[in-house]
Amino acid sequence: MKPIRKVVIPVAGLGTRVLPATKSIPKELLPVVDRPLIDYVLAEARDAGIEHVILITGRGKGAIEDYFDHAFELEATLRAKSKLDILSALEAGIPMAGTLSSTRQQAPLGLGHAVWCARELVGDEPFAVSLPDEIVAHRPGFLKQMVDAYEKVGGNLVAVEEVPNEDTCKYGVIAPKGRDGNLIEMTGMVEKPQPADAPSNFRIIGRYILQPEIFTLLKTQEKGAGGEIQLTDSMNKLNEQQTFNACICAGGIYDCGSKLGWLQANVALGLKDPDLGSAFGAFLKSQV
Ligand code: G1P
Repeated sequence: MKPIRKVVIPVAGLGTRVLPATKSIPKELLPVVDRPLIDYVLAEARDAGIEHVILITGRGKGAIEDYFDHAFELEATLRAKSKLDILSALEAGIPMAGTLSSTRQQAPLGLGHAVWCARELVGDEPFAVSLPDEIVAHRPGFLKQMVDAYEKVGGNLVAVEEVPNEDTCKYGVIAPKGRDGNLIEMTGMVEKPQPADAPSNFRIIGRYILQPEIFTLLKTQEKGAGGEIQLTDSMNKLNEQQTFNACICAGGIYDCGSKLGWLQANVALGLKDPDLGSAFGAFLKSQV
């Protein structure tokens, strides 16, 4: 079984659900407590033993690559002012040279198309996909839990959580067949079904482990829900050919691509922050 060494992180989206905040900054750089969203996703990938990050970027998203590079003026100023703790925290977040690559999705054709853009960089090996809108606050990181499951069952995996029926139309939803602990075998998947048509209320969270055969399916994938090339549609076809499991994630998921989810992430993670948590908690109590 080949190990999961690479993660694909699509960052080309326009962030329309969180406008105007994202008019001139990428949504992936919106801060949650003291660091940008994308930092959480990279930390989770590191926890899972990922060696190489592949960003699928787009126009106006250059600040994301800058975030992962040295900022010499800033670093020199921090050094001159002996702010060495801040400096070493900044340096710790920079991936080792050569371990982060990026390619541009030249048109917003959908998540399936974004993942397909990574085919040359991924090559012929299984890989992870993490959507940076969603913070999954778990210890160990949820991607690590998926990699552990992959090492037992192989094939392909998606992360899922249960949502109220009325929310199925916002997500990809799985059709469960059987359950073994927190793993669900599936008969299929459907993107953004209306509640009446949804095969379950297990919605797909933005964490995936996929075999490289997905690229062949994505190449010819027709447009699906919302007129976009959907990853879910190609995964549904891959499910007919290979092992596919859904890995249940219980709680700790914040959809920061929505205003409410972003606020919830700030509150939940702010309360857990070792330096700010207790003062922040006291402030929240005084407000409600
Ligand atoms: C995408 C996927 C969907 C998944 C969701 C998770 O949808 O297509 O299957 O449930 O991410 O965040 P999007 O948010 O791009 O509409």
